[in-house]
Amino acid sequence: MRSLPQNFRGASLGCGNPFALGRLQPGQTVLDLGSGAGLDVLLAAKQVGPDGYVYGLDATEEMVQLATENAEAAEVDNVEFMCGDMARIPLDDASVDVIISNCVVNLAPEKTDVFAELFRVLRPGGEIAISDLLWESERPVGATTDPDLWCSCVGGALTEREWYRGLEAAGFQGTSIRIEGAWADDGLPEGARIVSALVFARKPVPTG
Ligand SMILES: C[S@@+](CC[C@H](N)C(=O)[O-])C[C@H]1O[C@@H](n2cnc3c(N)ncnc32)[C@H](O)[C@@H]1O
Repeated sequence: MRSLPQNFRGASLGCGNPFALGRLQPGQTVLDLGSGAGLDVLLAAKQVGPDGYVYGLDATEEMVQLATENAEAAEVDNVEFMCGDMARIPLDDASVDVIISNCVVNLAPEKTDVFAELFRVLRPGGEIAISDLLWESERPVGATTDPDLWCSCVGGALTEREWYRGLEAAGFQGTSIRIEGAWADDGLPEGARIVSALVFARKPVPTG
């Protein structure tokens, strides 16, 4: 269930529901990449409870400020919002149990750096549950250099195959991608299709 906390200000700009897989447990430490106005952080905070903790990371001070005010208004105190880049996450190695994100990874110019950072900050056995847009078709020529497509969270979207390969190259295992549905195709090149998807993967526990 996703519902607005009381007094929440600002919009949810997500494209899916990173909670749909039900991965959060009481006491866990969670990171939300690109937390925006903070809705998913506040929902996660409720799920992990007082023994858990949720970090929200966003690239803009304005969003960090708004999300902090939303947390105060909702009287949620097991959260912290940080300003920073998802390609250089300001958290220690192996410090997070679950990483969630909602319509943000597509905005990263260098996905390889982001995948490496996700792997670094997760504890062994930790998981990602990421909602994002992806190309169901091959990426149309010129999509990555079209500023309008980038701004609508489409220009930098990966294909399904690129998600699998990128996560595997970073060290993740058990990747699965659940296509949730077609996304608006306004302004897309003829024949191109964008879908909303939920990506799950796990950082393996070293053996031996
Ligand atoms: C489409 S909005 C989604 C916000 C939020 N996840 C939600 O569901 O409402 C994308 C967010 O990602 C943030 N963002 C963009 N690039 C980022 C980066 N490199 N590192 C961290 N956050 C970033 C933006 O500031 C914005 O708040």
